[in-house]
Amino acid sequence: MGKLENTKRYVYLPVYLPYLPNTKSTKRKREQSEIKKEPIEDKPKEQKETKQLKKEEKKEVKKDHRYQAPVAQKNAIEAKQIVLDNLKVYKPMEGQDMETITLEYPGRDCREEFLLAISNNPDEYAPITDIYNTVQLIASECLPKGTANNFGDSRIGIIRNIMKACHKQITADLKDGILAFNAVMLELKDSGVFDNCEIKGPPASFDLITHILEQSYARSIAPKSHLLNHYEGFSNNVYGEIKHSFVHELIREADIKSTDIFLDMGSGIGNVVLQIAAECLCESYGIEIMEIPSNFAKKQRNEFLSRMRYYSKPCGRIFLKQGDFLEDESISKVISKADVIFLCF
Ligand SMILES: C[S@@+](CC[C@H](N)C(=O)[O-])C[C@H]1O[C@@H](n2cnc3c(N)ncnc32)[C@H](O)[C@@H]1O
Repeated sequence: MGKLENTKRYVYLPVYLPYLPNTKSTKRKREQSEIKKEPIEDKPKEQKETKQLKKEEKKEVKKDHRYQAPVAQKNAIEAKQIVLDNLKVYKPMEGQDMETITLEYPGRDCREEFLLAISNNPDEYAPITDIYNTVQLIASECLPKGTANNFGDSRIGIIRNIMKACHKQITADLKDGILAFNAVMLELKDSGVFDNCEIKGPPASFDLITHILEQSYARSIAPKSHLLNHYEGFSNNVYGEIKHSFVHELIREADIKSTDIFLDMGSGIGNVVLQIAAECLCESYGIEIMEIPSNFAKKQRNEFLSRMRYYSKPCGRIFLKQGDFLEDESISKVISKADVIFLCF
């Protein structure tokens, strides 16, 4: 990463680099954040500093780029639809018929239908794994601070029962577990605990964002992902995607803040732009020259934003455009105002 001005950060990543090394500077940042968490001694000067810090944190929340995009109000693509569109590769989880379950999400009026189906091909979408991960992450990552967890976890309660039913593939037990999960979720929703999460709540965790990105990819891109292979090898337009864990490290390394403006030059299907908007709550731009990945990126953004609402999580403003960053006039304006510019070839 090179620094050309005080405020602008440039990140260039050659596509052959598999991961960002754990450099000394990354380590130092981690140590600093650990020091901040230590208890503060009872000294007037330090108390003042703490108050000042808290004030600044509050200001930060006001200044971030979270945004409720109108497109997020649309319903997400149902898991059931993925299976119905590719029915020949699935069989019922148990017995003769594929049963349907409906899962309640934290967002108002947000629920999704899943078919209890299994595929023999590990590359295909796996609805049972999706249910398994979704309920666990909702219970562990979506409850606002101070809310009692009546879902349990992998060792106890409703979540344990659902996980067990998924492992043993017992339809009746899984349906009972989901009914119990929905009852708790509906009670929480009625009490209003999720109401202000998108406006005032903290960003989603990395684990939850990774899960939402995977859900969005499975629904908006995977069914037609073969179209992404039609590119000339070793050209600038060769298509590739970076791992979510790598982008997570990049956020630390480039120190991307909620007040920053981020630009991905050559944004592909938009993975990096979406992850950064969700993790940092910053304004996130992407430009992609090729028509197919650019169209996929827009579909994936719509699905991702709907799903962020399903989980009641905030997201930064997202702008995606098809064009050549060497010629596009509107992007040259973004280049001049961006704080972090990312290039991966
Ligand atoms: C290796 S991919 C990276 C995709 C994305 N940044 C990611 O990490 O998931 C590089 C992308 O840059 C695009 N690209 C190449 N030249 C470009 C240009 N002049 N303007 C816009 N996009 C370009 C390619 O089409 C390709 O999708």
